[in-house]
Amino acid sequence: MSDNSKSPTSRDTDVLIIGGGAAGLSLALKVASQARVTILSKSSLDQGSTYYAQGGIAAVLDQYDSLESHVEDTLLAGDGLCNKEIVEYTVSRGRESIEWLIEQGVKFTKEQNSKKNTSDNFHLSKEGGHSHRRVAHAADATGRSVFESLSSQAMEHPNITFRINTVAVDLITTAKMGQSENRCVGAYVLNEVSGEVTVYRARFVILATGGASKAYLYTSNPDGASGDGIAMAWRAGCRIANMEFNQFHPTCLYHPKAKSFLITEAIRGEGGQLKLPDGSRFMHKYDSRGELAPRDIVARAIDSEMKQLGCSFVYLDISHKPDAFIIEHFPTIYKRCLEFGIDITREKIPVVPAAHYSCGGVMVDIHGRTDVENVYAIGETSFTGLHGANRMASNSLLECFVFAFAAAEDILTQFDSVPFVEDIPAWDESQVTDSDEDVVIAHNWDEVRRFMWDYVGIVRTNKRLQRAQSRIELLQQEIRWYYSKYRVNRNLLELRNLTLVAELVIQSAMNRKESRGLHFTLDYPDKLPSTENTILTPKNFKPQKQFD
Ligand code: FAD
Ligand code: SIN
Repeated sequence: MSDNSKSPTSRDTDVLIIGGGAAGLSLALKVASQARVTILSKSSLDQGSTYYAQGGIAAVLDQYDSLESHVEDTLLAGDGLCNKEIVEYTVSRGRESIEWLIEQGVKFTKEQNSKKNTSDNFHLSKEGGHSHRRVAHAADATGRSVFESLSSQAMEHPNITFRINTVAVDLITTAKMGQSENRCVGAYVLNEVSGEVTVYRARFVILATGGASKAYLYTSNPDGASGDGIAMAWRAGCRIANMEFNQFHPTCLYHPKAKSFLITEAIRGEGGQLKLPDGSRFMHKYDSRGELAPRDIVARAIDSEMKQLGCSFVYLDISHKPDAFIIEHFPTIYKRCLEFGIDITREKIPVVPAAHYSCGGVMVDIHGRTDVENVYAIGETSFTGLHGANRMASNSLLECFVFAFAAAEDILTQFDSVPFVEDIPAWDESQVTDSDEDVVIAHNWDEVRRFMWDYVGIVRTNKRLQRAQSRIELLQQEIRWYYSKYRVNRNLLELRNLTLVAELVIQSAMNRKESRGLHFTLDYPDKLPSTENTILTPKNFKPQKQFD
């Protein structure tokens, strides 16, 4: 995907969207008839998680399903921490979201023999925690189909400009400019190719930067998932919530050359069985729903079996299903596994859990507004209250669309009252030089991801969290020094963000004195009778009137 910069010199835009995944593209398409929009994206546009989504989008589309059931399942998976109002709000917009996607050109898989492309005749799959078949999908490459449709619509829109190979460094706020209020007026943005940092002036800034699972050594996420939006929001004065709930997907392909390749939960929805190396099944020991228990339970069960047996992976087996069924429903996975010498129609697939989804993020209200005026957060980078302590499968793409629509509507209602701000200070490079020691960056990347995996992973203890915390403090000092002395590049910026996000995860995990959902600690193995979200407040936080 190329850069379509329609006005190569102007950095002024009404709506600056940082991130071109499902959330960012949807918001852009919703406001572009009335606003000039610029979308920033690190490297190429297809490098967000959206492109890689496999399973699909949860929505109540079947006549025997109900909104109440979708709500109930989401609340149950979220283990007591979902915001019911937000769950109901999101779930009730499922059909509308799917219909909008059809209008944008997404081709969902239909029931066999059906020719209509409406929301009434989809093939719906089932994933962990769902009590009905309710996941609309485009075979096993739903994200690619969504991404291709939305991005091609956006590329053609005369009011939408893409700036690829750009990295937003920080939000520019009036508070940082010495004023008493905290309003966002744009962002500093690095051009990855030229190395130049420039000011993008905007009336509204949208954080749509995806998640932070790259903080872990093993992850299903693409390289850019370094939590940039969460880190930028924190530095600008936004509260961040529930960072301890990082979701581990139970089944990523285990192969030395298969970086980050996910094996969709929909395989378990179609009868795929988890097995130990001796061929025996084990999930029934952990949950009566077996392989279709919510993800936190399945990932912990696999982790426990691997630790007890000292093995590096378990197996997922779908080979008992007819070959034609497997190839038709899971063509991407079938082909990819064959490239690694695994024929899933005949063989079991070696799988391991990997960091997959950030349930926490930038606190927003029902309109996607953050604590800083004119800044919205949507998609995985946000914390809306939908997922609670554990996201139910395929609810996240739905959240991307629902909150992109809500934020778009809110922006358009106040559009005329938000002016551009003059006299934004330029990026100051007068005190820095080119780094001659990039090995420090590479080393610190590895270090943080390794100890997050070992000490802040699927099973935690106080001691491990304390170890992680003392290491993070040292790393932070080193990175601060490095940042103040050398010219920035993408690697350094991502490391700075990733380390900050890791610190927030560790702090949140230490604050929670119980085990709930995705947060499991041997020191407090039980659930407390009542609980609250873990909300971290930055030093520069100023309460805003606009937050509902
Ligand atoms: P992303 O799609 O991750 O996009 C983030 C964008 O922000 C990218 O364009 C990136 O380049 C840009 N960006 C980040 N930082 C910066 C910066 N500093 N400056 C400029 N640009 C920046 N969910 C489901 O509901 N159903 C599924 O089936 C499903 N399957 C999944 C499979 C995989 C392998 C993965 C990894 C996730 C899956 N998920 C699924 C989760 C879901 O895909 C994501 O939560 C969702 O796509 C996030 O969309 P987003 O728009 O918030 O962010
Ligand atoms: C999957 O296809 O298993 C991923 C679904 C999700 O993360 O929601």
